[in-house]
Amino acid sequence: MATMADSNRQLQLTADGELKHFLSLEGLDRALLTRILDTADSFIEVGERSIKKVPLLRGRTLVNLFFEPSTRTRSTFELAAKRLSADVLNLDISTSATSKGETLSDTLLNLEAMASDMFVIRHAHSGAAHFIARDVTPGVAIINAGDGRHAHPTQAMLDMLTIRQHKGSFTGLKVGIVGDVQHSRVARSQIQALNILGAEEVRLIAPDTLLPTEPEAMGVRVFPRMEQGLKDLDVIIMLRLQRERMEGALLPSEREFYKLYGLTREKLALAHPKAIVMHPGPINRGVEIESEVADGPQSVILNQVTNGIAVRMAVMSMAMSGQLAERQQQAKAQQKAQQKVQGNG
Ligand code: NCD
Repeated sequence: MATMADSNRQLQLTADGELKHFLSLEGLDRALLTRILDTADSFIEVGERSIKKVPLLRGRTLVNLFFEPSTRTRSTFELAAKRLSADVLNLDISTSATSKGETLSDTLLNLEAMASDMFVIRHAHSGAAHFIARDVTPGVAIINAGDGRHAHPTQAMLDMLTIRQHKGSFTGLKVGIVGDVQHSRVARSQIQALNILGAEEVRLIAPDTLLPTEPEAMGVRVFPRMEQGLKDLDVIIMLRLQRERMEGALLPSEREFYKLYGLTREKLALAHPKAIVMHPGPINRGVEIESEVADGPQSVILNQVTNGIAVRMAVMSMAMSGQLAERQQQAKAQQKAQQKVQGNG
């Protein structure tokens, strides 16, 4: 019986196991994630040059299709595409045809008719990027930039790159994810990435009301109390309270939440002295994190943003070359079949 992981792998990878779409981390293996990180590492140097460009996607057209607001993700995708020499189209969805009743599929068909090579999609519905990848024209790559509460794989990979830069490897690492896990696509992708890359322990530190159902099934340990959860942590990942996704009152008050789960200097002292502090952004100072911690020596929050460009360059160039390889293979197979028919005739 084919599992979700199998079908996810099939949709994202070529027959040779190369990336052709990047939708979620489910079903991907350690070798592939490591290759993404290594490729990203090689692109970091490009961002440090005075001329920040390589020709890998020259002549290619990328469309940034954001149905939800975004600052970091959208601009780093745009910069990444430009550094790869692609032409970039940013679509402002609030003024686009979907608000005139056009379906997502029809919007896509029209954009494909403009000969786009890659779509970067952020959508409020879980599964939107998978849905599009299933019926997009062959040769066009789909990159998920966040779908509902489901997945945000490029964010998780830029987080993994940041962790690897600071900690060297994932072996023996204890990582804690704190706060609103229930509504977080970032946390879901991070948990998968950390487990695939072999972190020793992934902890979720949150009240019951902000946890997904059956969290242990995701390969994590749950700590309702921050004081216990922080003990010996090498990496602390803070999450924003996703108020826009909350139905009803899941929290007594922001003040109470800060008291129990806010990362203050005092609480940070409970983790490993060399622990790094991460946050996908946007941060809410005084809600989930104290200003002095966000700006402090253990914070790597802005490194995460910088790494977003290199990781997105890696994923986009790998997906495009996977698409190309698949088309070449299909053309070869077709040629062979034709020769066989001619040979028989
Ligand atoms: C996150 C997102 O949109 O999922 N932000 C991001 O991509 N940097 C997390 C959030 O909005 O809190």
